[in-house]
Amino acid sequence: MAQRPRGTRDFLPDEMERRRHYEGVLRRRAETFGFREISTPIFEETELFVARSGPNIVEELYAFEDKGGRGISLRPELTAPAIRLYVNGMSNDPKPVKAFYFGQCFRYERPQSGRYREFFQFGAELIGGSGPESDAEVIALAAAMVRDLGLKNYKVRLGHIGVLRDRLASVGIPGDGMAEILQKLDKKAFDEARPILESRGVGDADIESIFGLVSTVGGPEVLSAVPGEIGEYMGRVLALLDAMGVGDVEVDLGVVRGLDYYTGIVFEMEAPALGAEKQICGGGSYALAEVFGGEPVFTTGFAIGFDRILLAMEKEGLEHPRKALRAYIVPVSDDVRVEAARIVASLRDAGISADIDLMDRKMGRALKHASSVGAEKAVIVGAKELSQGVATVRDMESGEQSEVPLDCLVDHFLS
Ligand code: HAM
Repeated sequence: MAQRPRGTRDFLPDEMERRRHYEGVLRRRAETFGFREISTPIFEETELFVARSGPNIVEELYAFEDKGGRGISLRPELTAPAIRLYVNGMSNDPKPVKAFYFGQCFRYERPQSGRYREFFQFGAELIGGSGPESDAEVIALAAAMVRDLGLKNYKVRLGHIGVLRDRLASVGIPGDGMAEILQKLDKKAFDEARPILESRGVGDADIESIFGLVSTVGGPEVLSAVPGEIGEYMGRVLALLDAMGVGDVEVDLGVVRGLDYYTGIVFEMEAPALGAEKQICGGGSYALAEVFGGEPVFTTGFAIGFDRILLAMEKEGLEHPRKALRAYIVPVSDDVRVEAARIVASLRDAGISADIDLMDRKMGRALKHASSVGAEKAVIVGAKELSQGVATVRDMESGEQSEVPLDCLVDHFLS
């Protein structure tokens, strides 16, 4: 039997209904914050992702050469494409540009629960704003989205990549030599970070202090470990978030992020119930526009791992409202099929979801089928009733039946 590729999933109708419902929740929330949707290609030139996203992403790219010999990659994320789109066609738009997106991403990772090779991100980028207000705006949006979805058990962790970058610079690590170390620190892989730091001539005391910094977590008081502009900046973001109803933020100087392009605030949200793959959202401010040939501009954003957040919601037992089929038409005999077709068409045209027996089932079986597809009501169309201008409407839950004039059927379902 043919199999789908490893790390991918099929979504059956029940799951698609659930996914579309929650996608709609996120979309509506993004719009209330004044963000508008963009869409970019599923594949891009490989260079777009190699330019600044860092070694983690490059190792995981689905990269190939197309028939014209161009290096092409399936997108592993949507920030680089969104900024390319901004540089190509939106850079003259009034600022800030507020864009959101929803779509699949591809990473050649080892699949496990919550980690797929094809997964979906819902993200937002704010381009051309400035400073703490813009960072707070996107973090508040991410928090509001998670709240709207109904998830209860999650944490928001806020850091600033400048803290670690400054510290690494102070022990003599040049900016372009930091990626490998930051990658290890991101995973809290201190055993792997230590030999790299040692090989760059960093002494024991400095190494311990760097590891200490990465492990610094707490309330706003932790900011006393971050003097100067960065500490002030983070304090301001926290105050703005508090004003916007996002009070429960943990300061965590160890938020490094797996991507290389961040320059300022970084943040992550996690759902502890998910275990190893618990990060449900990640973001921060970054510099990419100038890498893609545009003017430098302040950019900040985030992406929610849609699949992971749905897993976390499932663990909390959250249910979405189900879409019911309103009517199931049962023609009792062959001679009423044309009239039954007219009836189903009139209901559908009035926006009422309606299905009709296409399998020549006898009445008993047809009603059983109506109930198995979750129809609210069956409309039984018989020759005798038709001759009197009525059809029998049966409530599938209570079994109650009543005769409804054909010209009142649409109103019956609308009222
Ligand atoms: P990221 O942290 O690499 O950030 O991905 C964002 C989210 O996508 C993660 O928090 C996680 O929930 C989900 N995710 C990542 N990889 C997988 C996977 N293999 N399977 C399932 N879910 C996954 C970014 O991609 C940045 N572009 C976010 C951003 C936007 N930064 C600024 N603007």
